[in-house]
Amino acid sequence: MNEPAPKISLGDAQAEWKDLVEDIRAHDHHYYHDDAPTVSDAEYDALRQRLEALENMYPELRTPDSPTQKVGAAPAAAFSKVRHSIPMLSLGNAFSIDDVTDFIARIRKYLGSYDSPFAGEALLKFVCEPKIDGLSFSARFEKGIFVQGATRGDGEVGEDITANLRTVQDFPIDLAGEDVPELLEVRGEVYMSHADFAALNESREAAGEPKFANPRNAAAGSLRQLDPTITAKRKLKYFVYGWGEVSGEYLAELNSQWAFRQKLKEWGLRIVDDKELAQLRVVDNTIAAYYHNMMRHRPTLDYDIDGVVYKVDNLILQERLGTVGRAPRWALAHKFPAEQAQTIVEGIDIQVGRTGSLTPVARLKPVNVGGVMVGNATLHNEDEIERKGVRVGDTVTVQRAGDVIPQVVQVELDKRPEGTLPYKFPDHCPVCGSIAVREEGEVAKRCTGGLQCEAQLVERLRHFVLRDAMDIEGLGEKQMEAFWRDGLIKTVADIYALPERVDEIEKREGWGRKSVDNLLAAIEASKNAPLEKFIFALGIRHVGEITGKLLARHYGSCNAWLAAMRILPEGGEAASELDNIDGIGPKVLLALSNFFREPHNIEVVNSLTQVLRIRDAAAVAKDSPVAGKTVVFTGTLARLSRNEAKSRAESLGAKVASSVSAKTDYVIAGDDAGSKLKAAKELGVAILSEQEWLDLIGQ
Ligand code: IVH
Repeated sequence: MNEPAPKISLGDAQAEWKDLVEDIRAHDHHYYHDDAPTVSDAEYDALRQRLEALENMYPELRTPDSPTQKVGAAPAAAFSKVRHSIPMLSLGNAFSIDDVTDFIARIRKYLGSYDSPFAGEALLKFVCEPKIDGLSFSARFEKGIFVQGATRGDGEVGEDITANLRTVQDFPIDLAGEDVPELLEVRGEVYMSHADFAALNESREAAGEPKFANPRNAAAGSLRQLDPTITAKRKLKYFVYGWGEVSGEYLAELNSQWAFRQKLKEWGLRIVDDKELAQLRVVDNTIAAYYHNMMRHRPTLDYDIDGVVYKVDNLILQERLGTVGRAPRWALAHKFPAEQAQTIVEGIDIQVGRTGSLTPVARLKPVNVGGVMVGNATLHNEDEIERKGVRVGDTVTVQRAGDVIPQVVQVELDKRPEGTLPYKFPDHCPVCGSIAVREEGEVAKRCTGGLQCEAQLVERLRHFVLRDAMDIEGLGEKQMEAFWRDGLIKTVADIYALPERVDEIEKREGWGRKSVDNLLAAIEASKNAPLEKFIFALGIRHVGEITGKLLARHYGSCNAWLAAMRILPEGGEAASELDNIDGIGPKVLLALSNFFREPHNIEVVNSLTQVLRIRDAAAVAKDSPVAGKTVVFTGTLARLSRNEAKSRAESLGAKVASSVSAKTDYVIAGDDAGSKLKAAKELGVAILSEQEWLDLIGQ
């Protein structure tokens, strides 16, 4: 099946084998455990092919733990494990028609030595099906009732995904028909349609979550969720293509793969049964015709296929052929060539997502990739451009990954024209000109001008009016988008200018006197929002509702908060005060300073504060003995949990800090108090026992 590899010495082969195995294991890990592959399928297949070639050359290299002897990956630790009663195998791969001819010849030869009619010209029947590019599963039905689902895992032991599989669209919980075997294990593929994949990624982008690279990873990531309610939201679909354990004489009676497929369908399981897609063919040149036909069909399907599968139809012959290594001798996957083409990078554009992430996109000289014209390809992020070394003017190989988003595979360095320069990723947002920053541990740079950046505006506006933010009823997403499109609203501050445009609004479709009045009332009421909601409404990265509350409680009034925030980017006192608030970490500190460093944001906040009358933080008891005091809890408290102690102190108007400084009024020391107690002693801060504290606050 493999190209004859050039002879190399055993020593060299051993060294190369070792490197390949290491690479393949690393890729397997990314693929199976992280659901985030780092190489294209074609690159991965090439590594495996080379490994097999080396092992064919020097069979002593083929150790039992070689990747060629294994399928997939061992299950992740968190799922309970399921041992497959019959192992879930993989398939041998063919990359050319010659490979397929070899496969058929091998079958004939193998059978011929036992049964002469198959040695010569007699026809072998094959079932031809598309190879679905998803995640394989096994499902067990007892007396027709679904009892257990599992992933393939390493082929022997998979992960228990019973609850998750139940949430897959149209997956039957009990099977139809009188003749369902007592025990039936079916095997198939869970996948995500292109439309559902696009919708999922869009919502992930909006939520600031990393996008899935392709539908297969999305399906895998969704199915392997410890929380099946998440799986349920992900719109997964499935096909079955085979079976594992089956009780009784069914298989013997039915006698063919084709007939059993029809049974699966009768019992209510989904099979690929479109006449164009799945066929029963005899072996002659129709197998090549089927393959080419499927390649033509591929772009019209709403799910990914990465090849076709040929299976000997006769079950007795299947059994005689048996398996070799990790694959059956009676079946073969004929892979489609990776859809690649070369073209020139004419520019690198930066797209700004709804949440402000900057994504570089290569603008390409349009090129036909597997039947589809491709004019641009994602470059993912700054690191990826650097890793691949892409420059404007370069000739690159592009590929349609999982058939959806075109990707740049590599730069053709030998074609690089003179005078090109390394690409410099912008440090400002191309849409609004605000500073773009990259947080530690993040791959994406983000625009910090969220409050007025066109690209993020609809998202920000939507957030601003939420019930837990400024709570402006009557401004739903649709109305807001329409106002924005028609130029009525350009920043959140413009919401408060809407009352001046009543006449215009009233004339708009879907609006009337009453709805306009309601909207005006809601806008007016929102002017008096509490500080915590206002802080949350600004949509600052990492500043959610809880952080909003913490900040509001600490600073008390909008003026005090903004005064501190305006000088925050300079570091100094304001920064250390913020850093010292219990519950506020370095991420929030950085996000706030990035936000207030950007003049665009300050402008919008200023226009807001001119019209708003933000309420001070929940009137805390100003006359309590600890009002306005800064306290630090340390050690283990006997009568209160740390959270309880904290919220009681705060409700009495105290500020709870996380570290001791000269500004600390009291340190309340429980058992085993350590460095904070020591610091308090050194600074001469009053130290109270838990009981003394409770006495002080009168409890
Ligand atoms: S038959 C004994 N048929 O491809 C193995 N597999 O690369 C029988 N796959 O693990 C597999 N579509 O997850 C078969 N129509 C199809 C398939 C299919 C997708 C997957 C399956 C298998 C992998 C092998």
